Amino acid sequence: MIIRPRRLRKNETIRNMVAETAVNPDSLVYPMFVVEGEGIKEEIPSMPGQFRFSIDEILKELESCVALGIKSILLFGIPHHKDEMATCAYDDDGIVQRAVRSIKAHFPDLYVITDVCLCEYMSHGHCGIIKDGDVDNDPTLELLAKTALSHAVAGADMVAPSDMMDGRVGAIRECLDEHGFTNTPIMAYSAKFASAYYGPFRDAADSAPHFGNRKSYQMDVRNGREAMREVALDIEEGADIVMVKPGLAFLDVLREAAGISDVPVAVYNVSGEYSMVKAAAKLGWIDENAIIRENLLAFKRAGADIIITYHAKEALEKGIF
Ligand code: PBG
Ligand code: ZN
Repeated sequence: MIIRPRRLRKNETIRNMVAETAVNPDSLVYPMFVVEGEGIKEEIPSMPGQFRFSIDEILKELESCVALGIKSILLFGIPHHKDEMATCAYDDDGIVQRAVRSIKAHFPDLYVITDVCLCEYMSHGHCGIIKDGDVDNDPTLELLAKTALSHAVAGADMVAPSDMMDGRVGAIRECLDEHGFTNTPIMAYSAKFASAYYGPFRDAADSAPHFGNRKSYQMDVRNGREAMREVALDIEEGADIVMVKPGLAFLDVLREAAGISDVPVAVYNVSGEYSMVKAAAKLGWIDENAIIRENLLAFKRAGADIIITYHAKEALEKGIF
C-alpha cells in the first residue's frame, strides 16, 4: 500500500494542520426574541436556553453576549396586538423598532439584523395579507417594504425578509433607496422551505398560521432546482446576502447555492434543529458539544459564509470553536 490516508490523522497537530474548514465566530449570527413589557425573561419551553426578553432584559443579556464575542444578532419581535394588516409590524413605536433604537444606543458596535415578516403581527398568523383564503402577493409587498423601512429608520444595520413573497427583495430595495437607505443591506431568506423544523419557533414567536399552512409561499421541500431559481432571482433583485433555510436537511441546497452565488451565502440552523439537539442531550443520548460542533462545521463544509444559530452564544461560552 502506497497511499495511506491515516498518515495525516496520526495526532491532533497534524489533524489540525490539514483541517479544511473552521467556523469563524465572527460569522455567527444569534437570533433573539423581544416582547413588550418589562422585567421579562421567559424561557421558551421547546427551546431550552432561549428566551423571550423585554427590552430592559435583552439589554442585560446582550452585555454577556457581547462580552463573549457575539458580533451580530437577528431580532424577532412579538407584538402586543395583532390584526389583519399587521399594523404593529411597521409602527415606529413597534416592539422591534423600539428594541433596535435601545440596543443600538447601548451597543453601537453590535450588528443588528431585523427579521422582516408579518406573521407575528397578523391575527391569522400568515406572512401576508389574506384574500380569498390565500396570501395576496402584491399588496403584501407594500407592507413588507414599509416594515423594512421602519426598521432601517430605527437603526437596523441590515434587514432580512423571511416572508417568501415574489418580488419582495426588489420592493424593499426600492423603498429603502427612495428614503435614503441605499447602504442598508438586504439578507434574503431566498431558499426558504415549508418545513416542519420551524415548529418550536412558532411557539416562541406565537406565529403559527391559524388556518392552512405556508405551502403556497414557502418552497416545497422536494425541490432543489427551484431553490436555485429563488437564489438567482433574489440576487437579481438586489439581495446582498442569500440564505438557505433550514440547514441540516438542506445541505445539498446550501452546497449548490454556494456554487452559483456571487454574494455571501447564509444558512439558518433553525429552531427544530436546535430543539432536537437539546432534547437528545437532555436525555443523555448524545454528546451535545460535539454534536453542535459537527452541525456547524457541516454548514461550513457545505459552503456557508454566515451561520444563523441559536447555539451561537453557548458555542462561544463553551469554547467549541
Ligand atoms: C417568519 C420566520 C419563521 C422563521 C424565521 N422567520 C417562521 C416561519 O416561517 O414559519 C423560522 C425560524 C426558526 O424556526 O428558527 N416568517
Ligand atoms: Zn412570516
